[in-house]
Amino acid sequence: MAVPVDIDVETLKCEIKKTYAQVSTEPEHDFIFPTGRAWALDLGYPPDLLERVPDASAESFAGVANPFSLGALAPGERVLDLGSGAGTDSLVATQMVGPGGHVTGVDMTPEMIAKARAGAAELGAQNVEFVESEAERLPFADASFDVVISNGVIDLIPDKDAVFAELFRVLRPRGRLQIADVTIQRPVSEEGRRNIDLWTG
Ligand SMILES: C[S@@+](CC[C@H](N)C(=O)[O-])C[C@H]1O[C@@H](n2cnc3c(N)ncnc32)[C@H](O)[C@@H]1O
Repeated sequence: MAVPVDIDVETLKCEIKKTYAQVSTEPEHDFIFPTGRAWALDLGYPPDLLERVPDASAESFAGVANPFSLGALAPGERVLDLGSGAGTDSLVATQMVGPGGHVTGVDMTPEMIAKARAGAAELGAQNVEFVESEAERLPFADASFDVVISNGVIDLIPDKDAVFAELFRVLRPRGRLQIADVTIQRPVSEEGRRNIDLWTG
């Protein structure tokens, strides 16, 4: 059930874009959340696949857990990486699905898209693309993907019903969701839900 949120969603999106533009352009900054290649290794990413992800992408990794801990992707699969950031998960996925598969990363922050594209070019990956778009309105046909991965994104979006409606629309029947995200055990207070800083981090 959707929880009513008393914040201006466009203001929140601007703040989120500012935060993640900085993760892209100033990866050495001390953020309130962990970032970078060492963090991905701590989360149990397959070291051999992570090693091939160029620094350009890995230094701006900002995931919260490891969507591949729910299972490896199969060769030939069509994958959507929702909120792909600088592209680490997409570039791991591209190695798992191989040349017969395809990975589409979607993110609303232009600086992240630019960095992900640079990472893909450096890796020489032909089976990956990055699309600038919002998760609540995906520019893809119904049943376009076998699996959706996502890492640390849906917690940032107030309208979760809209996101899941889109994910179920673009996933093929019996497709998979492999989502790493932040969950809460108790309802957040109204004051907490109005605090944009708590949303963006
Ligand atoms: C915590 S970062 C995680 C990035 C990436 N998944 C990773 O693990 O490195 C969250 C990403 O979600 C993107 N994002 C947040 N809200 C979004 C929305 N409504 N639509 C598309 N992207 C969004 C941000 O731009 C940011 O790149």
